[in-house]
Amino acid sequence: MLYRTPPGSEVTRRAVVAGTGVLAVSATLAACSNDGNSAPPASAPREPAAAPGLDAPPAAQSLASTTAIPVGGGAVFPSQQVVVTQPVAGTFKAFSAICTHSGCMVNKVAGGTINCPCHGSKYDIKDGSVVNGPAPDPLEERKITVSGDAIQLS
Ligand code: FES
Repeated sequence: MLYRTPPGSEVTRRAVVAGTGVLAVSATLAACSNDGNSAPPASAPREPAAAPGLDAPPAAQSLASTTAIPVGGGAVFPSQQVVVTQPVAGTFKAFSAICTHSGCMVNKVAGGTINCPCHGSKYDIKDGSVVNGPAPDPLEERKITVSGDAIQLS
């Protein structure tokens, strides 16, 4: 680009470049400003619409029938990563099926414990506490509701 200055002018190339930058910033700011009295242009981004159901509490998820959970035992639901137990008749408990040792999924409820196949950890079916390590912590309890013979994961 060629910049010509009249003889004796003090305008330098640097001043011209700086002035061009100021004009560009001013034009950008003017385009972005809104004095509040005018409607936004049709192409202006609009407030995102709330996704349906986003503010609503999550719907309960049907998990199983109470008849599928043996008294003194339980069942693992891999898709939901949850294990449901029935330590005594009519009392249902639910826990995360993810072992607290290294994150394997427990795969069996037997002998009064929830068992992890990876390194042998066992958890009590009553409260998810560690009966046999190496798991360092109990299984996290999950909230369920029992309505009639339907067990729902909250
Ligand atoms: Fe379960 Fe190691 S991951 S015992």
